[in-house]
Amino acid sequence: MWFITALLFSSALAKPTSAPYLLTQNRPFIIAHRGACGYIPEHTLQAYEVASYMSADFIESDLVPSKDFQLIVNHDNLLNETTNIDLLPQFSNLHTTKTIDTYKGNITETGWFIEDFSLNQIKELRAKQRLNFRPKHLNYLFQKITIEETLNWAINENLERIKKNKKLLGVYIELKYPKYFNSKGFPVQEMLLGVLNKFGVGDLNSASEKCPIVLECFELETLKYFSEVTDLPLVYLIDSRIGSNQIEEYSTIVHGVGPDLGYVFDLGLDGTGFIAKAHSNELFVHPWVMRDDILPEGANAEEMYLKLLYENADGIFTDFPDSASTYFSTE
Ligand SMILES: *[C@@H]1O[C@H](CO)[C@@H](O)[C@H](O)[C@H]1NC(C)=O
Ligand SMILES: *[C@@H]1O[C@H](CO)[C@@H](O)[C@H](O)[C@H]1NC(C)=O
Repeated sequence: MWFITALLFSSALAKPTSAPYLLTQNRPFIIAHRGACGYIPEHTLQAYEVASYMSADFIESDLVPSKDFQLIVNHDNLLNETTNIDLLPQFSNLHTTKTIDTYKGNITETGWFIEDFSLNQIKELRAKQRLNFRPKHLNYLFQKITIEETLNWAINENLERIKKNKKLLGVYIELKYPKYFNSKGFPVQEMLLGVLNKFGVGDLNSASEKCPIVLECFELETLKYFSEVTDLPLVYLIDSRIGSNQIEEYSTIVHGVGPDLGYVFDLGLDGTGFIAKAHSNELFVHPWVMRDDILPEGANAEEMYLKLLYENADGIFTDFPDSASTYFSTE
């Protein structure tokens, strides 16, 4: 009998993280979503630098592979939403249509796809704001970057912080469409682990000393794989297609969940109660995404940040890290 009980308990065992950099905080972590992209074109070193000045605890990097197996920081594999590629005639022959097998099902898109470009070609592009009502004066100035450039910058920033005895800046990394890229011959999970190890941040101990790392994904298979090969903290991203019914199962694989804000506010998903439910399963909760300039109808940014604070959200992805920092400071 004791044996069956032990089995039952172990099969439902949650995996709370022992990451020191996720334990010590008296307010939600500020995760600069694609950098300070409310102000600066997303996923550029400049967007990350500004986020760092704005008291972000983490900058977020989404990754997709180039043709020559570099991990490029970009929200997805389409290049036209955030660069000037449509203005560069040398790339017009690479305009094409593809079907991408994602966790949301197959998506067919027409445009320029990162995996058809070499890193050198990607470096010819210049970044622009995705949302056309955001500041445009910094469009077409900054380059696209790789995860290696990002880590190099963050680790150097942290060397300065260590000298000043300041809290380290972390990098919160998402692999985009890993199943799709695996099917196209890009082993993106191994590529990422290779880069993390090359920079000496592939496990919890070394990441704690040099640069806090969190790995996030919408695909549970990839997180399962990571859970077997690294002790870095893992976050399962949840939207309405994935849902929160299996939260106990998630807790056996990952350390935290990143739900759509609709799970925290009453925006037509599960509504409230999500954070407490996740916490009772020993999962930390980092919802996405606060966009102060695109709020749900009738909502106000200050009230939303304060609700995240009072409901004990463990972090928040935001396009406006300065705003989170202001509302979370309790003095
Ligand atoms: C998406 O496309 C792939 C290959 O083209 C196919 O194997 C898969 O079943 C499709 N998925 C869905 C959900 O339709
Ligand atoms: C980029 O391409 C996608 C897919 O064709 C399209 O939906 C989108 O409107 C384009 N965006 C811009 C800014 O050109």
